[in-house]
Amino acid sequence: MSTSGLEGVVVAQTKLSAINGAEGELIYGGYEIDDLARHTTFEEVCYLLWNGELPNQAQLDGLRAQLAAEQDAAPELIEMLRAYPRTADPMAGLRTIVSALGMFDPNADDNTEPELRRKAILLTAKMPTLTAAFERIRNGKEPVAPRAGLSMAANFLYMLNGEEADEIRVRTMDAALILHAEHGMNASTFAARVTAGTLSDVYSAIVSAIGTLKGPSHGGANVEVMNMLRDIAQSGTEPEAWVDHALESGRRVMGFGHRVYKATDPRAKVLRDLADQIVPAEGGEGGRGGRYWLDLSDRIRSHMQARMEAAGKKIYPNVDFFSASVYTTLGIPEDLFTAVFAMARTPGWTAHLFEQYAKNRLIRPEAEYTGPRGLTVKPVGER
Ligand SMILES: CC(C)(COP(=O)(O)OP(=O)(O)OC[C@H]1O[C@@H](n2cnc3c(N)ncnc32)[C@H](O)[C@@H]1OP(=O)(O)O)[C@@H](O)C(=O)NCCC(=O)NCCS
Repeated sequence: MSTSGLEGVVVAQTKLSAINGAEGELIYGGYEIDDLARHTTFEEVCYLLWNGELPNQAQLDGLRAQLAAEQDAAPELIEMLRAYPRTADPMAGLRTIVSALGMFDPNADDNTEPELRRKAILLTAKMPTLTAAFERIRNGKEPVAPRAGLSMAANFLYMLNGEEADEIRVRTMDAALILHAEHGMNASTFAARVTAGTLSDVYSAIVSAIGTLKGPSHGGANVEVMNMLRDIAQSGTEPEAWVDHALESGRRVMGFGHRVYKATDPRAKVLRDLADQIVPAEGGEGGRGGRYWLDLSDRIRSHMQARMEAAGKKIYPNVDFFSASVYTTLGIPEDLFTAVFAMARTPGWTAHLFEQYAKNRLIRPEAEYTGPRGLTVKPVGER
């Protein structure tokens, strides 16, 4: 019997995270996501995912030093980014540069545990640097090197914008990275594990994951959310009417629905709270008030909730819904959102690779054949 979309099929055991879709709960290594997002840093969550426990101060300092030592991007890689077409999609750019990273690593094919750990740190440290460099180069600016002493979240905003962000913005970036770091057997993690299951290398597995995350049904949804918000703003339509029209035309409203959550995604709740702290009451772009995107998002959420409840569907906001307005407020351009998701998910992907290589079995499901049988080949001129 086939299961459409592998729904409900358990393909691995993991100690990394658990999702209770009915209640809208997510834990990493035993800790509620809300607790982690509000009280830890991305570096602490990396340690938790890679080691199964939160670090003490000395362990955290050690990991920070290891990440800092890997943060620079080699000049060859920067030259590759300069050779990209200016119109390159950021996820295509990230996929390509991570593939290149593998070629520059003489131990790329060594899947022993110390090597897996070294690569997890290397990839987690370099992806923000390369993402920020990609963004600056395509805008005709020089890349900004990482600054010693800054956290991963602070450094990313610094390398992207060329100036250090204030504490609340860094805190929000940190929380956004934590919220995206791990999420069970999602499609990109599964893709990474399938690739590792063939005993291919970590870089190839992460390239598979990036290619999978790129799709609008997975990581690409946050870009689509921002496109939707801009579309509504530009059309001058009331958001409620826009949602009605979308649903009546059979279209999906981006940032809603989830294969596993049948309640509000707990990550969306944390992001919504953070948004209140960073979205300024004044300012904003194009003459729109600072809270414009957030207010628009709230109206869409309320109306969607009413429509979905009336239709008896358990469709609620997912993590992408509020990440769009939060990232925009942090000055991250919308087509970079999915690349930011990818760099945040790298500790989760690599932690899954630790589990996969440690207890590997080739992942090879079957397909149910529905074509004809018993045909015989006729010469080509008689077909
Ligand atoms: C995430 C997603 C792919 C999950 O899909 P899925 O588990 O296969 O869910 P289904 O396609 O079976 O949807 C169940 C029902 O809810 C509806 N639905 C699901 N997501 C919807 C959305 N975003 N807007 C409107 N209706 C939606 C479907 O049309 C379907 O209705 P039907 O039973 O009348 O046909 C889907 O909800 C979606 O496309 N969401 C928008 C993209 C997005 O935000 N992705 C990010 C996920 S983190």
